[in-house]
Amino acid sequence: MGIRIDGAIRRMTTICAALLIGIAGSAHATGIAQIIHARQNHFHQLGRTANSLRDQIGQSRPNWAVLTADANRIDHLASALPSWFPAGSGKGHGVDTRARAAIWIHPREFAKFARQILRRAQNLKQAIGSRDLGAARLRARKLGQGCDSCHRRFRGNSSLWHMW
Ligand code: HEC
Repeated sequence: MGIRIDGAIRRMTTICAALLIGIAGSAHATGIAQIIHARQNHFHQLGRTANSLRDQIGQSRPNWAVLTADANRIDHLASALPSWFPAGSGKGHGVDTRARAAIWIHPREFAKFARQILRRAQNLKQAIGSRDLGAARLRARKLGQGCDSCHRRFRGNSSLWHMW
């Protein structure tokens, strides 16, 4: 009798431990989903701001206040960009992401692209600050090229898309 209860308790303990591991596992997955969604939100913000800036900078008499606000926001987002990619937030967690594994395999190269976009954002801010439309347009084009070059190297197709 005592032995049977003992065994039952042991089985219960095992089941509880398994459940706890299961819960911890799904909490981990939720954390990754949040990180990936936050990252994509940041990028969508960056994309919207860059579009707004591009539209404005194409005008013959641009609104400098809008340009200044956009450039500040791009600078701010660019300086935070590296923090959106903690290790383990790539593909393979059932969350749709285009972040390629190369980001974590070649972290120094990725950091170089991130530093480059920040520098270009700062140069753009400076040109806008001095109300130099020609220079600002050139800097904006450089910024856009910086986005593209990182995307070509480190942004792949959606992981879910690959499944079909
Ligand atoms: C250092 C690399 C890097 C730089 C620089 C960069 N991006 Fe991205 N971008 C990425 C990666 C990686 C993703 C995919 C993120 C994901 O799906 O989790 C992404 C995703 C995006 C998305 C989300 C939609 C999509 O197509 O995946 C937008 C919009 C975007 N980037 C715009 C920009 C703009 C605008 C710039 C320049 C101002 C820029 N990015 C600069 C790496 C970069």
